Amino acid sequence: MDTVARVDPDDLEREALAAAAEARSLAALSEVRVRYLGRRSALKLALRDVRDRETGMTLNAVRETVEAALTAREDELARVELEERLATERVDVTLPAQLLGPPRLRPRGTLHPSTLVRRDVEDIFLGLGYEIVDGREVETTRYNFDALGFPAWHPARSPRDTLYLDDETVLRTETSPAQIHKMESQRPPIYMVSIGRVYRRDEVTATRYPIFHQFEGLAIDHGITMADLKGTLLYVMRELYGPDREVRFRTHYFPFTEPSMEPDVSCFNCGGAGCSICKHSGWIEMGGSGMVDPYLYEFVGWGPEEYTGFAFGMGIERTAQLRYGIGDIRAFWENDLRFLGQFR
Ligand code: DAH
Repeated sequence: MDTVARVDPDDLEREALAAAAEARSLAALSEVRVRYLGRRSALKLALRDVRDRETGMTLNAVRETVEAALTAREDELARVELEERLATERVDVTLPAQLLGPPRLRPRGTLHPSTLVRRDVEDIFLGLGYEIVDGREVETTRYNFDALGFPAWHPARSPRDTLYLDDETVLRTETSPAQIHKMESQRPPIYMVSIGRVYRRDEVTATRYPIFHQFEGLAIDHGITMADLKGTLLYVMRELYGPDREVRFRTHYFPFTEPSMEPDVSCFNCGGAGCSICKHSGWIEMGGSGMVDPYLYEFVGWGPEEYTGFAFGMGIERTAQLRYGIGDIRAFWENDLRFLGQFR
């Protein structure tokens, strides 16, 4: 027969074995396999047309030899290719994982120190049964000043201290206006804390920044006394700075509290002996507080003596500075990852 006649088994075998030996890659070898053993190869076509037993046995023997040679060469090439890959794709196990090709481990984000303190403050007050309320960053002078008892001549009303949007609209200078909104929306008992940004027209320095955060507390009920204020602040300071802290009051003045006190906490660093953190006094200033001035009750339409209450306001950044030992307040706003990545 034509096809069979054209195939010389010895030539075919020699040719196939040579091609297998010459193949330099698994891909090339798989082409050799197709050429000599594939469905349309001369050998397969010849086998299909076999008429006598002897030719069949010869061709089958060729097929087996070629098959064995291809398999052996496959093993050999696979080994060579693996060795090459091991040599070229060597892994430097000392590199950080993120730098190895496409990121397998994404860099883990961290919370901003202000957010960490804010969440702690929220947890502490939620634990005391306080409600967390939002305030308004854009306020009217009525809520930011009038309602809180700031007289017309008060320096905080000056456009040199406060950022005005128009004559009657300011970026709030403190979180205290949130007290008035709460009192207008609801009768006591009120136990609330409000946390957010406040704005003052300050130069940017290591200790001042025109934007910062405060937390503002307000408790109004029947029979609330200054002892409740002090006990509450003592509890909060111990939660924030450790169980051994003490709190003391210094008399002060705020337009919306009477009497007004500035609370100090005993220094968490030296325990009161005196160090650079407490400026060698043993005490650290924490913010402002006092008993709600009856003027505020009247402002929202209540009788001046129906209730009593206390209020306090403190800085979030200041709290974070003390807790984490952050010297320069500008670091809170510069978004330097070397700084931000340190707080977990
Ligand atoms: N708002 C005051 C400030 O920014 C802090 C303050 C003082 C808040 C006394 C209060 C308070 O609620 O009763 O300096």
